[in-house]
Amino acid sequence: MAVSVQSVGLTYLTSVDKKPTFKARIKRFGRGGKFSRRVDAINDVSIDIRYGTVLGIIGSNGAGKSSLMRVIAGIIPPSEGRIEVYGSVSTLLALGVGFNASLTGRENVYLGGLAAGMTREEIDNQFDEIAAFSELGEAIDSPMRTYSSGMYARLAFSVAATVKPDILIIDEALSTGDARFKEKSLNRIKELRTEDRALILVSHALATIEDVCNEVIWLDKGRLMARGEPQQIINQYREFMQVKRSASSDEDV
Ligand SMILES: Nc1ncnc2c1ncn2[C@@H]1O[C@H](COP(=O)(O)OP(=O)(O)O)[C@@H](O)[C@H]1O
Ligand SMILES: [Mg+2]
Repeated sequence: MAVSVQSVGLTYLTSVDKKPTFKARIKRFGRGGKFSRRVDAINDVSIDIRYGTVLGIIGSNGAGKSSLMRVIAGIIPPSEGRIEVYGSVSTLLALGVGFNASLTGRENVYLGGLAAGMTREEIDNQFDEIAAFSELGEAIDSPMRTYSSGMYARLAFSVAATVKPDILIIDEALSTGDARFKEKSLNRIKELRTEDRALILVSHALATIEDVCNEVIWLDKGRLMARGEPQQIINQYREFMQVKRSASSDEDV
């Protein structure tokens, strides 16, 4: 087993921007609480992920895919349930969570490597490979806040692909960058598929998911809708989306 997700729920509490009404202010005063909005991003999700699995996560925008990746990666604790991770996790989220924008690419490679449990010597030995794979050139020594989102994703992907963690989570990073870099990243992912590694890929690119994954889960509104063989689950999802689309166009009439 690589990861065990047990009845996990995640609720975000965000403060509301709207200016509170006088009445609400009094109420808040009474409760001593804050104005907040609850978003149930994940609802009672259980999944076991074994080593050797290349798991694709699909679902529409806001389905909870990134949230689930964040809790699996330990970036945010679940509100309910538990997650067990057997191995080291190196994450690669869409926004390059884990990178510090005020540091240079090079400094972030060291931070990322150390966070993934590598020693400084190991990173020294792999640095050139990471920098070369990222194709950032001299920009590797510029602060990451000057990077485009494509450059961000490229460096994140290069670290993850070179560090070769036991469990690798890739959230949408394959959707950024040019076609050639995508192809290169995809090939690297295929090389990473082994019995002693678990890969979790979140992507809108259903063809990519079908091409590289050996299992797929479909999330909708924070719930696990289906899990199984890629082609079958992707077909179910496509059908669902079509029905949803035609239902909403009926409403428009
Ligand atoms: N940091 C956050 N604070 C509050 N709500 C959030 C936050 N991140 C995501 N959400 C909400 O949680 C739900 C799931 O979002 P997300 O996990 O990003 O979905 P996906 O990656 O599938 O598009 C959405 O309703 C989104 O608006
Ligand atoms: Mg997302």
